[in-house]
Amino acid sequence: MRRKIVAGNWKMNNNFNQSMELIDLIIKNSKKESKCEIYVSPAYPFLKDVRIRCSSSDIKVMAQNVSHTNHGAFTGDVSCNMLQSIGVNSVIIGHSERRTFFKETDELLLNKLELCVENDFEIFYCIGENLEARKSNRAYQVIETQLNNTIFNISNINPKKLVMAYEPVWAIGTGLTAKPIEAQEMHHFIREKFKNNYNNDVSSNLTIIYGGSVKPDSAKDIFLQPDVDGGLIGGASLNSNDFSDIINSI
Ligand code: PGA
Repeated sequence: MRRKIVAGNWKMNNNFNQSMELIDLIIKNSKKESKCEIYVSPAYPFLKDVRIRCSSSDIKVMAQNVSHTNHGAFTGDVSCNMLQSIGVNSVIIGHSERRTFFKETDELLLNKLELCVENDFEIFYCIGENLEARKSNRAYQVIETQLNNTIFNISNINPKKLVMAYEPVWAIGTGLTAKPIEAQEMHHFIREKFKNNYNNDVSSNLTIIYGGSVKPDSAKDIFLQPDVDGGLIGGASLNSNDFSDIINSI
């Protein structure tokens, strides 16, 4: 059985008090039986406090980013080791906002992925095409290139420590969601690529989640798709009731 995951990416939202209030509400809601693993990803300064709060629950905490190097003169960066030292061992890599606003290239992302594997991190690796690529029927080509340039250069992939997130850039924060069938077709394509590049075992055990304007009213149909194993939720994860409704849609 593949892992089912719903993860909330809080991005650069919520100060300390707001983060604490939100996590308390999410913990309260999560006491009900849920059919998936739940992750939240607060901003760096609050990771430790949120993680400590979550220790009374099954909710896991991950960072939104990590440095491509282990230590040294990299002002503003945070390393795997620093995260590990506060009990955080999961991280989002390759989010389109990092690729777009911070100019993170495939080369840099491959460095980050290698370092995370070396440090035994759990990786949520995001890939996705932009609107122009989708409109010109190049979505699959873009995804294949992103895979070939980055994650497929890593030979020792452990599917239990990797979560792929398909996040069409045109759907992130825009209110546009991929149609369930569009998500399914791309997830299936990604799974097939993992089968070709690694093997059947990796591919069938790989959790692939969808991200891009998932809301309580759209979650169920997307999660029903056979190759969609959950969601990476941005905006809707900032509201504990919406997040809980999405979790309960799985
Ligand atoms: P969104 O963000 O749900 O606000 O579109 C998703 C994401 O960026 O992971």
